[in-house]
Amino acid sequence: MGGVREGGLTLVIWISFILCYVYVCTGFSPIDSFLIDCGSPANTSIGNRLFQPDTSDSKTLSTPIDILANTTGILDSGIYGLRLFETARVFNGTSSYTFRIQKAGRHWIRLYFAPFIYQSYDMSTAKFSVATQQFVLLSDFQIQKDSVVKEFSVNVIAGDLNIQFTPASGSFAFLNALEVVSVPDELITDDASNVPPKTSFQGLTKQALQTLWRVNMGGPTVSPTNDTLGRTWIPDEEFLANKNLARKITGIVKYVDGGPSRDIAPDPVYGSARQMNTGGDPNTKINVTWTFDVDRGFRYFVRFHFCDIVSTTGNQLIFNVYINTWQAYQNLEFPTVGTPRYIDYVTEQSESDKLSVSIGPSTDSADNYANAILNGLEIMKMNSSSNSLGDTPFMSSKTGSKMNLGIIVGVAIAVIALILAIVVFFICRRRKRLAKLQESKNWVPFSMNMNGGNTTTMGGRKYTGTTTNTITNLGYRVPLVALQDATNNFDETWVIGVGGFGKVYKGELVDGTKVAVKRGNPQSQQGLKEFLTEIELLSRFRHRHLVSLIGYCDEKNEMILVYEYMENGTLKGHLYGSDFPTLSWKQRVEICIGSARGLHYLHTGSEKAIIHRDVKSANILLDENLMAKVADFGLSKAGPELDQTHVSTAVKGSFGYLDPEYFRRQQLTEKSDVYSFGVVLFEVLCARPVIDPSLPRDRVNLAEWAMKFQKLGQLDQIIDPNLVGKIRPDSLRKFGETAEKCLSEYGVDRPSMGDILWNLEYVLQLQEAVLPDDPDENSTNGIGELSPQVSDVVHTTTDTGAGTGTGNGTDTQIDIGDDDISGISMSRVFSQMVKAEGR
Ligand SMILES: *[C@@H]1O[C@H](CO)[C@@H](O)[C@H](O)[C@H]1NC(C)=O
Ligand SMILES: *[C@@H]1O[C@H](CO)[C@@H](O)[C@H](O)[C@H]1NC(C)=O
Ligand SMILES: *[C@@H]1O[C@H](CO)[C@@H](O)[C@H](O)[C@H]1NC(C)=O
Repeated sequence: MGGVREGGLTLVIWISFILCYVYVCTGFSPIDSFLIDCGSPANTSIGNRLFQPDTSDSKTLSTPIDILANTTGILDSGIYGLRLFETARVFNGTSSYTFRIQKAGRHWIRLYFAPFIYQSYDMSTAKFSVATQQFVLLSDFQIQKDSVVKEFSVNVIAGDLNIQFTPASGSFAFLNALEVVSVPDELITDDASNVPPKTSFQGLTKQALQTLWRVNMGGPTVSPTNDTLGRTWIPDEEFLANKNLARKITGIVKYVDGGPSRDIAPDPVYGSARQMNTGGDPNTKINVTWTFDVDRGFRYFVRFHFCDIVSTTGNQLIFNVYINTWQAYQNLEFPTVGTPRYIDYVTEQSESDKLSVSIGPSTDSADNYANAILNGLEIMKMNSSSNSLGDTPFMSSKTGSKMNLGIIVGVAIAVIALILAIVVFFICRRRKRLAKLQESKNWVPFSMNMNGGNTTTMGGRKYTGTTTNTITNLGYRVPLVALQDATNNFDETWVIGVGGFGKVYKGELVDGTKVAVKRGNPQSQQGLKEFLTEIELLSRFRHRHLVSLIGYCDEKNEMILVYEYMENGTLKGHLYGSDFPTLSWKQRVEICIGSARGLHYLHTGSEKAIIHRDVKSANILLDENLMAKVADFGLSKAGPELDQTHVSTAVKGSFGYLDPEYFRRQQLTEKSDVYSFGVVLFEVLCARPVIDPSLPRDRVNLAEWAMKFQKLGQLDQIIDPNLVGKIRPDSLRKFGETAEKCLSEYGVDRPSMGDILWNLEYVLQLQEAVLPDDPDENSTNGIGELSPQVSDVVHTTTDTGAGTGTGNGTDTQIDIGDDDISGISMSRVFSQMVKAEGR
């Protein structure tokens, strides 16, 4: 007995495993798949799909009289499944198809219609309605002159799905072919964003949807045989409002675990796009717009497919997305090149019979080459409140009682199928879900190399990135000779900084790109391992607010890193001790917001948080538009990961910024960065060094001193004299509170970078509300409204708990903070950073 049961269980597990394997490895295989070639005498195979005839004696079809129609001579050739259109069923009374559904969930219903004449039946005169469950799919439908496939999808709980054809009085109905196929659960989830307002729409699962448009931007038609879910994608030319404003582009797509799969959209869709036709002018301000016919009075589910196949180093995409004139997404950006991503919206009831979507340059991206892309678009009509997708309300006869009967009759099969389905999907989706949970809804993880050994253009010359034993597939490799050229053979007068690691040179590549070249001293204590780690991390983590790595060189034992050049030096330089003009309050807050974004991304952008470990004003660099970028985030110390049992975490960081908890306990979490960031906030406000030994004792340490005034509510007494009278009290109060929270004694009490970001945005709003016309306050540093992806994270950020270091090693290294000579932070060219455990 027990053996039998056990055997049965093992079998179920094995079947689940096999199904799971098939599901994961070869794309989706639908549990329910009914393909019918109506009125056909035999099977019809279209590509790898087999359509079966519908015989009236089967349980599938119920119709008063059998009328099988056929024709040879369908005119529009080139259409998918032409042979399916050659036969049809004619229904001269209410008729229905019934399918036994085994897998609960959304199912496609695809209806094929072709206008032809068979005996006395001219299909183009037929007028009828189609309904299923409580929904009307088509009401008083009449075919136009072309063949069509109408695609719907509805949620089916279990039991029988019944699709009913009802001729209008005196008319008849017809159907050429029919598909009822399971949709993968993850294709359409329950929620999307409302536009407007930007709130969350919940309850998509209950909606009946009709696909109105499914478009492959900049690419060819994708037929059902080339799509894992049997969908058709059409080219976008005919929808472009102005063809001259857009160009096609194609590229390579990298599907990654946890990100959208080929089931979301296939390679030809993500691998082609339309981009702005800027005509070579980086400041072009145009929108690319597509316009689609829709039915008035309905709401629409709109899915945008994106895949950044255009970015090059230093030219990161950032753009806005509009639905009609609503800004659906401000400042959309992509952390990795070639990884698919999609974003869902639900519109309000359409007051027009047109729906347009546009992409256009970010309004505050003076720092970037203006461009925008779109790879694919789906527009689906949602059922009205009267459960209709048709134009006029229509009373359908409910199929509820039949369904109940079906449930009872099919209970045995259903139970087995359900158990199997649940097990299979639980196992299969658990892994995906786990990965997804780490990210916000439409956020794609990016643990991949960007440029695996590709040929790439560097500085106007072509180099082939070869791989060696030491470095494989990491970033761009630059020949030494190119760097010698760029730096006038490492001319000492071109040095812009010196640190423990070596020297930093200003340089210019052959194509005129300015770069900062960090050349490691071979005697440096920083080893090859750290050098490799920096390259690896910087290749993986690309963000507008992180300084980007342009390339590296490891020829002849050199360890050279090439970074984008930051025109305006360090934040520190702008606060005190140099000749830069002082920054306005708005500029300062924007810089704080920018750096918070960079850190937030480091902390949350991958499965394991990256902890910077050396956050300070000297490591926040400013580009020519004063946009902040966090620098010096390259070194993963050989730490907890390599030796799990006994960790000797060196206390590293810069004096004056060090998290006391980390110092005491050598426990490292993201919250150590938060502490240091809090010190930076006070530094920005007071414009003085974090440690100034020349001051009276109680003022030496900025963090202590500022906290004292903050707690007394007298922060205004110690602010930078240049700011006196220019900060609105509310804004100052919020700023002070935010900094204070960052400096909480215990990490658990400190906010996450996401929360800080949120608070700083608010600080800015409080300020702007009062001084809109201050001429000093006109910077445009690319700090816009908190983007949805950030706000999602803000609300889901959880504390990551205890840190990683537990050992007793204390080879304390402390910088006294005199490490930036000019512009580029030096002392720790390779700073300290570890991947935190336990996320
Ligand atoms: C579709 O698949 C066929 C063969 O499987 C291939 O020849 C064709 O190029 C594919 N079309 C697209 C758009 O990928
Ligand atoms: C793009 O379209 C949006 C919405 O209609 C509009 O607000 C914006 O000004 C347009 N941008 C450009 C550059 O035309
Ligand atoms: C569509 O139908 C569902 C189920 O009847 C209903 O809950 C939903 O509100 C309808 N959608 C709209 C937009 O009214």
